[in-house]
Amino acid sequence: MKNTQSTKLLFELSKPGLRAVRLPECDVPRQPLEKMLPAGAISSSPPPLPEISEIDVIRHFTNLSTYNMSVDTHFYPLGSCTMKYNPKRNERLASMPGMVDLHPYQPDSSVQGLLFLLHQCQHMLAEIAGLPAVSLQPAAGAHGEMTALLVAAAYFRDIGEKRDTVLIPDAAHGTNPAIAAMANFNVLPVKSNAAGLVDLDDLAAKLDDKTAVFMITNPNTLGLFDGQIARIAKMVHDAGGLVYLDGANMNAILGITRPGDFGADLMHYNPHKTFSGPHGGGGPGAGPIAVCEKLRPYLPVPIVVKDGNGYRLDYNRPKSIGPVRSFFGSVGVLVRMYCYIRTHGPDGLRRVAQNAVLNANYLLAKIKHFLPVPNGERCMHEFVATAAKLKADRNISALDIGKRLLDYGFHAPTVYFPLIVREALMIEPTETESRATLDAFVEALFRITEEPYDLLHEAPHATPVSRPDEVLAARNPVLKWKA
Ligand SMILES: Cc1ncc(COP(=O)(O)O)c(C=O)c1O
Repeated sequence: MKNTQSTKLLFELSKPGLRAVRLPECDVPRQPLEKMLPAGAISSSPPPLPEISEIDVIRHFTNLSTYNMSVDTHFYPLGSCTMKYNPKRNERLASMPGMVDLHPYQPDSSVQGLLFLLHQCQHMLAEIAGLPAVSLQPAAGAHGEMTALLVAAAYFRDIGEKRDTVLIPDAAHGTNPAIAAMANFNVLPVKSNAAGLVDLDDLAAKLDDKTAVFMITNPNTLGLFDGQIARIAKMVHDAGGLVYLDGANMNAILGITRPGDFGADLMHYNPHKTFSGPHGGGGPGAGPIAVCEKLRPYLPVPIVVKDGNGYRLDYNRPKSIGPVRSFFGSVGVLVRMYCYIRTHGPDGLRRVAQNAVLNANYLLAKIKHFLPVPNGERCMHEFVATAAKLKADRNISALDIGKRLLDYGFHAPTVYFPLIVREALMIEPTETESRATLDAFVEALFRITEEPYDLLHEAPHATPVSRPDEVLAARNPVLKWKA
């Protein structure tokens, strides 16, 4: 018989009389409750809490903690939304008492060390971007997109130009059009060409005196570097618009090329994909932005500045869009980013990018023989394979493959994104994976493509829950126990 103890809820394990903790007899005179609490605060019966022994509590939570796949437990090739491995040293440094015991209301003079660190972060991110001015405040990549678009809007308002349209390639991450709409811009998609790059004719047809910003991800979500970028930037600038670089894929180009050098005016970083910070998921992560000189006045406040008296937070910036986050943003995440960048240094960061690209190309070269990669002779940090033929021939979908990979002990790749590839499987290994891990992943993926339909269609088989209704689970989470 199967032991189902570990999948039961605490309430289901409850047995009257069981206790995890037994308090000693009270050895001071008791006071009646009514004397100590107002009548309305006293319940007439005890709350229906589970009664359970210590060992069952421990097993329950320890088991729960193993149900998730994480980058610390499994290979995690989740393209686009990749979570980079967080080196444990950075966690330790960010947890030092000198960091975690600080309070944001302390006077600047008492936090000079931290302000130095943040000032350095501004400087380093400016250098890596090739763009001079940085705000560390946004709390996630998408929040960085929002902040940067508000900066662009403030700029056009200030120079008296009515530009209300943002152009976005159809390969873009969903946050790009969503954020542009939230920032009150009209959104126009720009087609990709057969090579998976920006269709220049379509871009030319859509650029006009209403264009505020062209948002491009480069390398794009197909893992391709758009070599037309200098031409694209000229087209956008000639039309009076700004070029926004979604910097989510900076891991592929760190220290090799810089957005500011290939024509970007503003950009955001995703530290979880590039500098090993925890993922924002809307916050509390980090999504710093970098902008060109003419956009500097509009950045959020505060900015860390250095003057004769040391470092201070500068709020006195009359054209600023104002704060976009309380205090200074997610400082703990910025500390981790600082440690990561300083540990690697300029040459190390370039090696990170080279290894990320090498690992992705190694996988691409092996996988394309059994799962076609439509735009893939070569890739940057990630690539997109398709299960469209498997779907047509044997009704095996990208979802089936992703689910079955869990049985083999691998996190699934991103599926069904980008939208321009049917039955997409978007694979990003990152630079930290060994050849042995990559080979094991290829082997598992190959075996899966040979497995029978029924087995795949009901996968995963090794997880406590197989295929929940994911939409229902997200829209209607059941968070309360009902007897
Ligand atoms: C290309 C791209 N743009 C934007 C984002 C949004 O970033 P975040 O999830 O940090 O809000 C992501 C997600 O990682 C992404 O892959």
